[in-house]
Amino acid sequence: MSKTALITGASKGIGKELAFLFAEKGHNLVLVARSAETLKKIKMELEETCSVSVHTLVVDLCDAVAAQAVFDEVKKKGVDIDYLVNNAGFGDYGAFADTGWECYERMIALNVTTLTHLTHLFVSDWRGRKAGRILNISSTAAFQPGPMMAVYFATKSFVLHLSEGLGEELKKEHITVTTLCPGPTSTNFGEVSKMKASQLVKNVQIADAKEVAELGYRAMMRGKAVVIHGAMNKLAPFGIRFLPRKWVTRLSAKIMQQ
Ligand SMILES: NC(=O)c1ccc[n+]([C@@H]2O[C@H](COP(=O)([O-])OP(=O)(O)OC[C@H]3O[C@@H](n4cnc5c(N)ncnc54)[C@H](OP(=O)(O)O)[C@@H]3O)[C@@H](O)[C@H]2O)c1
Repeated sequence: MSKTALITGASKGIGKELAFLFAEKGHNLVLVARSAETLKKIKMELEETCSVSVHTLVVDLCDAVAAQAVFDEVKKKGVDIDYLVNNAGFGDYGAFADTGWECYERMIALNVTTLTHLTHLFVSDWRGRKAGRILNISSTAAFQPGPMMAVYFATKSFVLHLSEGLGEELKKEHITVTTLCPGPTSTNFGEVSKMKASQLVKNVQIADAKEVAELGYRAMMRGKAVVIHGAMNKLAPFGIRFLPRKWVTRLSAKIMQQ
């Protein structure tokens, strides 16, 4: 029997690649993002080429009521969600005090609050069902502080810790929680986050979004707890365990400078 995945941020980048992957495997979809026209085109393409059913929800997930609205709409449509993919997120490169509060407020709302709220709504709904898989998109930013993107790094750290904690807690419910940690990846993220200016993006190989999505998809289906994309990206979280925290932060500051 085909299952249904709800993917946030499915109009572009990693989320769009994930939507194609789920559809190619025969899963129905609920795709959430703000770009109505893009979602409509993706829905038409997937329904035609993969013979799956696709619902689209045009929602600004920074809104305080967004998660509840998405959940209510899914219920209204009579759709049962088997896979929850919390992918939508954004960052912003720049000095903390030079960045307007509204940007951080929206970032925390999207990357942290809505992700947690959606997870809470679906996990509560799945209680007793003994099934359900969650894929949360964090980042290699989760493993250390990030001067010049301190709020974004902190939000991704939250996602990693939340997911690991819940993954363990929900084992008895047979609900799996997987965290995907991509490094710099070729999507719209670089443009939105203005990260192109940093040494980090100038000096590393930029990953392909489809490859990153495939890694996340496979890990979720296997119920893996954490998956990091790229051999070099895997080294850093391991290496920094042996360094004093203030060295790690200074090193991160060097990598994040322009
Ligand atoms: N690309 C990277 O280098 C990289 C590295 C590590 C982690 N990540 C993480 O990967 C995830 C996906 O990012 P990406 O690289 O694929 O970026 P992207 O190409 O910019 O895509 C972001 C997606 O999120 C949606 N979105 C953004 N704000 C939204 C809002 N307020 N409400 C609803 N949807 C919203 C966008 O759709 P609309 O604009 O249509 O709303 C889009 O579909 C993010 O969580 C990001 O932090 C990315």
